[in-house]
Amino acid sequence: METKTKLKTHAKLGFSSMDTAEMVTTMNELIANYHVFYQKLRNYHWNVTGPDFFDLHEKFEELYTTAVTDIDEIAEKIRVFGATPLSTLTDYLQTSEIRETGSKLTAIEMTREVLSDIETLDSFMLEVADAAGNVGDTATMDMMNSMMRRIEKEHWMLTAWLNEPKKH
Ligand SMILES: [Fe+2]
Repeated sequence: METKTKLKTHAKLGFSSMDTAEMVTTMNELIANYHVFYQKLRNYHWNVTGPDFFDLHEKFEELYTTAVTDIDEIAEKIRVFGATPLSTLTDYLQTSEIRETGSKLTAIEMTREVLSDIETLDSFMLEVADAAGNVGDTATMDMMNSMMRRIEKEHWMLTAWLNEPKKH
């Protein structure tokens, strides 16, 4: 069976720059959001206080450690396509939907922020996966799926930890 990509003019691994344009745009948005999220987690890791300090201090570190690996993987995928990942803090802050907060939040407020940010990240990952699906890039879809599987599980666990009534 002839695959779709074999019929294309090959630029990078069978995908033309037109094929990858939407993926690169959405991946850059994802990187920007993920980077602001990463720094928020460091902020919360350092500044969380109260009886849940040990739990959350550790959990936030676990999350930002994973974030570093994910961001790197996404940025390098953009390089695979021959494009340039957003790489400056200025670009991240301008592009990110996830907003920074100060440091004087309660442990509960920090956890609510993290939960809402995970929802934002999940939707950007889905956008990348959709863009990849449009051009049959199963490798990128797979990368996004595995990231989504992991952060959705984190979302569940943090929601269970927070144990607040459902919004809807
Ligand atoms: Fe630390």
